[in-house]
Amino acid sequence: MDTDTPIEDVDVFAQIGEEGFRDLTAAFYKRVKQDDILGPMYPDNDWEGAEERLRDFLVFRFGGPRRYLEKRGHPRMRRRHMPYVLNSKSRDRWLLLMGEAFEETDIPPPIRQHLFAFFTKVAHFLQNHPD
Ligand code: HEM
Repeated sequence: MDTDTPIEDVDVFAQIGEEGFRDLTAAFYKRVKQDDILGPMYPDNDWEGAEERLRDFLVFRFGGPRRYLEKRGHPRMRRRHMPYVLNSKSRDRWLLLMGEAFEETDIPPPIRQHLFAFFTKVAHFLQNHPD
């Protein structure tokens, strides 16, 4: 039996704070920018904005300040991703780059696992194109 206390979503912000999410999204977008599949999907003149939207969303989703809601309203993630081709190729690349981004941060392994499980679930849910 797994006797570890499970991590709750709100524990994530309590443990890694703004800094953890800032480091993670910065390391992630650095990779996305140079990526042959994902790079061209993002607005070339608004990398900072894209990074801020993901960061604010994660901060809010994992128990921090609710800036995302104030600026962007209800997340409606599936709808907001409809303009982009999300098939297994772009989905797996997104997850690969996020996995690499974690390696550049000091986020502790149990929190990484918790966040990565969330990313994996959402990335599959967002898929909107057959392969
Ligand atoms: C599966 C592959 C994915 C692809 C190819 C993808 C692609 C994109 C693109 C092109 C944008 C627009 C960039 C912008 O904000 O200007 C975007 C926005 C966003 N994505 Fe993704 N995404 C993926 C998965 C995810 C996942 C797993 C999450 C969260 C867990 C996520 C969260 C967000 C958020 C919060 C925004 C900003 C929404 C807004 O307020 O407009 N995405 N994504």
